[in-house]
Amino acid sequence: MTILKYIFPQGFEWGTATSSYQVEGNNLNSSWAPFEEKSGTILNGDKSGTACDWWAGSRWKEDFSRASANAQNAHRLSLEWSRIQPNPDVWNEEALDVYREMIRGAISNGLKPLVTLHHFSDPIWFSEIGGWENPDAPQIFDGYVEKTVSALKPLVSDWIPINEPNVYIFNGYLMGNFPPQKKFAVRSALKVLVNMLRGHANAYETIHRLQPEANVGTSVNVHGFFPARNNLRDRFLTRQFDKVFNGSFLDVILNGSVSLVGYRINEKKAKNTQDFVGLNYYTASQIQTSTKWTEIMTFPEGTLLSDTGFIGHEPEFFEKMLLWAKKFKKPIIITENGTENRDDHFRRTYLAEHLIYMWRAISNGAPVKGYYHWTLVDSFEWERGWIHPFGLWELDRETQKRTRRNSADFYKKIASKNALESEDILHFAPDVFKRAIGE
Ligand code: BGC
Repeated sequence: MTILKYIFPQGFEWGTATSSYQVEGNNLNSSWAPFEEKSGTILNGDKSGTACDWWAGSRWKEDFSRASANAQNAHRLSLEWSRIQPNPDVWNEEALDVYREMIRGAISNGLKPLVTLHHFSDPIWFSEIGGWENPDAPQIFDGYVEKTVSALKPLVSDWIPINEPNVYIFNGYLMGNFPPQKKFAVRSALKVLVNMLRGHANAYETIHRLQPEANVGTSVNVHGFFPARNNLRDRFLTRQFDKVFNGSFLDVILNGSVSLVGYRINEKKAKNTQDFVGLNYYTASQIQTSTKWTEIMTFPEGTLLSDTGFIGHEPEFFEKMLLWAKKFKKPIIITENGTENRDDHFRRTYLAEHLIYMWRAISNGAPVKGYYHWTLVDSFEWERGWIHPFGLWELDRETQKRTRRNSADFYKKIASKNALESEDILHFAPDVFKRAIGE
C-alpha cells in the first residue's frame, strides 16, 4: 500500500485563531454593538450576545486547556481596543489586567500567544470622529498601540497590528455590510487604506521601539482568482481583482507604493514594515466579465462547497498563494484557514487537503512557520451572525457547552506528530487519500 507522510518543519506552530469581538461577548463600546442593533444588518437578526463567554465567564480558560490537550502549541487572539480605551482619554487598567490573565493562561497551557491589536472592531468614539477616514486615525491608533504593548510586552513578542485591512475596507466601504456601511465609496476606501497603512507602519515602529526583539507582522486575506474563460477581458478583470484585493496592502509594504485602477498610493514609511507575512486563506473564485453583478465572481460548477456555499474547496490555490508570497522574503505564517461545516465531513477534507498543499508549497521553498486554524470554537461571524460554524469545537449557545468535532481529533494527530500521515488521512479524510495517490 502507498504510504504518505507529509512532515512539517521542526518547531512548527500549530494553533487556532480567534478574535475578541467574536468570542468575548457584550463588547458594548465597539462600533459593532450599535451596528448589530440596526435592523437588517446581521443575518436572521442574530446578536453576538455573550458569544463564547470569554469575558464575563472567562471561558477562555476551558478553551485554552482544550487547545492545549489538543497538542496545539500556539494561539492567535485579539484585543478589543474599545475595552482598553473606552473613551479617548480613559484607559481601562482592569481590561488590561484581564488580557494579562488571559495571555498568561495561554502561556501556561503551552500556547505561544500571537496577538492582534485590531480585528475589525473600533471603539464607538473612534467611529464617531470618522474612524479610519479621519486623517488623525494613524496617530490615534498609535496611542492605543503604545499603551497596550507597554503593558503586555513582558508576555507577548509576536504582534499583528491590523487584521485584514482588505476585508475591513471591502465590507465597510464598498459592500456596506460592515460598519460604517458605506457602499461603493471608493474615495473613502482609499483614505482608509492609506490610513491603515500608516497605522500599521506607526505600530511597527512603536512596537520595535518598545520591544526591539518583537516580531511584528501583517494578516491579510488572500483569495485565489482565476479567469472563468480564457479571453482577454476575463484575464484582465482577474488581474485587477488580484491586484486590488491581494496586492493593495502588501505591495505597499513590499515596495512603498502601488497603483490601483488609476490611483497611485505612495507610503514610503510603510515599506518593509513586516517581520513576517501573515496570510488568511479560505478560498478561490473564478472571475468573468458580466453585466450581472452576481455572475462576476463565482465558484465553478461542481466545486465542493461548505454548508452555505460560502467557501469553495480550492486547496491548490493555497499553494499558489504561498508561492506568490515568497516574493516578500519573510517568514510566512498562516494566520487563518478553515471552513464552516456543522456535521464536520467537509472540514476534515478541507483540512487534510489544505495541509497537503501547504506542505507542497513548503517543499517548493515557501518559508511557512506556522498554521492557525480558524477557529477553536464556533463564534460570532460578523454580518453573517451564527450561521457559520467554523469551530473545531461546536458551541451550544444556550448552555455554552462545547462539543468536539472529529476535526479536533484529526488536528491533534497532525499537531502531535508534526506530520500528516496515511493512517490519519485514511481515517479522517479517505477521499483525500484517494486523490493524493491519484486514484
Ligand atoms: C476574518 C474572521 C472571520 C473569518 C471567517 C476572516 O476574514 O478575519 O474574523 O471569522 O474570515 O469568515
